[in-house]
Amino acid sequence: MKVGILTGGGDCPGLNAVIRAIVRKGVFHYEDEFVGFLEGWRGLLEDKAMPLDLSSVGGILPRGGTILRTSRTNPAKHPGGIDQCIESLKKYGAQALIAVGGDDTLSVAQRLHEKGIQVVGVPKTIDNDLAGTDYTFGFDTAVNVATGAIDRVHTTAEAHNRVMVVEVMGRDSGWIAMYSGIAGGADVILIPEVPFDIDKVAETIRLRHGRGRYFSIVVVAEGAKFSTDVDPEHGAPIVQDMGRDEFGHARLGGIGNILAREIEKRTGFETRTVVLGHIQRGGSPSAFDRVLATRYGIGAIDMVHRNEFGCMAALRGNKVVSVPLADAIAKTRTVDKEMIDVAFGILDKLTKDKEAVAD
Ligand code: F6P
Repeated sequence: MKVGILTGGGDCPGLNAVIRAIVRKGVFHYEDEFVGFLEGWRGLLEDKAMPLDLSSVGGILPRGGTILRTSRTNPAKHPGGIDQCIESLKKYGAQALIAVGGDDTLSVAQRLHEKGIQVVGVPKTIDNDLAGTDYTFGFDTAVNVATGAIDRVHTTAEAHNRVMVVEVMGRDSGWIAMYSGIAGGADVILIPEVPFDIDKVAETIRLRHGRGRYFSIVVVAEGAKFSTDVDPEHGAPIVQDMGRDEFGHARLGGIGNILAREIEKRTGFETRTVVLGHIQRGGSPSAFDRVLATRYGIGAIDMVHRNEFGCMAALRGNKVVSVPLADAIAKTRTVDKEMIDVAFGILDKLTKDKEAVAD
């Protein structure tokens, strides 16, 4: 069987491990052939492809990025784009397509499935915000990078008696902020799920310093929102510019600096910001992500040969299973109450004001 593979959306550590696993199992166990479409859906729109065989996936397991490259191209925004994708699959003789991506990429996969194309999805995003699966690959690596950064920020905060604000990625979900904040021992964790009151954040920090602590660590997800009118468009996430990608997403970023300014103004404590940005997405995947990505790749090619199309490989209770693509793209997976309770559980009684952190 000839199978197409593409990687779409923001890159993510582990993409190459998925590609490698699909190709190796496909060649060794099913005698498959593969074509890789380049730069996400753009490859199908603009006829950009490369053959994929055992030699092309040699040595890529620990490499970040994706040998197929990626883009945020949305065929549905191009006249006749969906039909063009179908034509390209025919042209290359691909009888099935494995799309590796987040909700945007997989929503296009679902559209193709509805048009009769044999599609399987693999869940990818450092944000871990895809429904239908317990974890996306890439998330663990991003959390490790953010936790390492928070550890480093801790020592300099302590040396200077400062408040340090660490801005991490997370557009609609605060999973990276929550995990790295807990792992890094942050004093305040702010997530997009719960708009926060800046006065309560400042009060939390003041109380901590009043008990003899002389530094604090605040972890904030880029998509977190002020509940008060500190920012001009309060209640909306802070954006870097007014542009939007083809899936309608704005470029977030900048909340860390605004937050630091407001904390310093309210507390009088010297405050600095670190924005981790794409450092969280680049570089080598963690061992956990290499294994998870490999399991997803194997799961996806097995699903192709079991004719489980219109589905996505997913992790449920440490088993790789198949779930409908429609379920995966139906909603955003936000931070759940159990995790929020864990964060509150480790806070000092004096600072245990749920609204000050997140609820
Ligand atoms: O893919 C998810 C994500 O990492 C978000 O957390 C972030 O807002 C976005 O990608 C950044 O995308 P880009 O690299 O296109 O600016």
